[in-house]
Amino acid sequence: MQVPFLDLKAQYKTIKSEVDTAIQSVIEGQHFILGAEVSELEKQVAEYCHCKFAIGVSSGTDALLTSLMALGIEAKDEVIVPTYTFFATAGSVSRLGAKPVFVDIEKSTYNINPDLIEKKITEKTRAIIPVHLYGQCAEMEPILKIAQKYNLKTIEDAAQAIGSESDGKRAGSMSDTGCFSFFPSKNLGGFGDGGMVTTNDPAIAEKIRTLRTHGSKPKYYHNIVGGNFRLDTIQAAVLIVKLRHLDKWTMARQENANRYNRLFEESGLTDNIQIPVIKQNRHIFNQYVIRLKNRDKLQAGLKEKGIGTEIYYSVPLHLQGCFKGLGYKERDCPVAEESARTTLALPIYPELTEEQQKYVVECIKQDKDI
Ligand SMILES: Cc1ncc(COP(=O)(O)O)c(C=O)c1O
Repeated sequence: MQVPFLDLKAQYKTIKSEVDTAIQSVIEGQHFILGAEVSELEKQVAEYCHCKFAIGVSSGTDALLTSLMALGIEAKDEVIVPTYTFFATAGSVSRLGAKPVFVDIEKSTYNINPDLIEKKITEKTRAIIPVHLYGQCAEMEPILKIAQKYNLKTIEDAAQAIGSESDGKRAGSMSDTGCFSFFPSKNLGGFGDGGMVTTNDPAIAEKIRTLRTHGSKPKYYHNIVGGNFRLDTIQAAVLIVKLRHLDKWTMARQENANRYNRLFEESGLTDNIQIPVIKQNRHIFNQYVIRLKNRDKLQAGLKEKGIGTEIYYSVPLHLQGCFKGLGYKERDCPVAEESARTTLALPIYPELTEEQQKYVVECIKQDKDI
């Protein structure tokens, strides 16, 4: 049996006529840049994320970059980020000449450990970027308290977490801005790159709208320097169609996660494998990640049996070559470093079948070194 890590073709089959019609309509209209579909998607995403404003941008990375720019982060500022996340969380800080300050994660959720944040704050600290990793919100309450105490901005990296919730509040609605990615593998994925910034502050919304068109306001007058950070109309048209299906797909991911949990428990594997721990109230399972010894051997064995898996992330950011100058060394963030050696993401996409999941767990059980 083949179990790919992700099967986007299976999803496309279920919405082909809707998506094809939406794309064709943009082609007929020929309004490819910031067309009506972009503002319609912005309206719908703002509503979905319980935010007043949403601004379509070119990627999740540019959602982070424009957020930092809009909040006035600049060279010499420090921004607190978890060390265990996709590169863009810290890369966008560095691109502005500011310094990412890395914090270790919590072992059970893989999200930033709020207890470790305060001692990293200096007089240069300007912001915190909590990441809602794998689709589960970071523990926002203590993070927001710290931000308030030290007058720091907060930017939620919700790239993997559209629709997830912390204490009933939606990802992207609890901070100065929320940053979303429409990279094809996300729960709401486009047919290329795309992203969105959410905010409840009208001035920030306006600034990001200006930044995404080279800082131009009115047209050809530039009081600030921005860039080309626009979301394509074709992407917006595809995403409007997909948003209609998002809750159903998220529910299917949650059901798949529950089924894996059950299968692991029934197989007696949970003594040796840590299954995902849910601490916040709506986990949208962009990824289903397990922790175990001998991860690399298991991954190789599963590959031979036709099962795709991924490692998110094999090198924590504080140990990346490009951040060598910041002076971090091994053991500075032990939980992240251990997670980098021992975690594995299994297929979790909505179209995954029960038979495929049973096969995955059966193959894991056959590995005698687990
Ligand atoms: C946590 C996180 N932050 C930021 C990004 C960047 O998003 P994009 O690939 O759309 O630029 C991603 C997506 O890959 C992500 O997973």
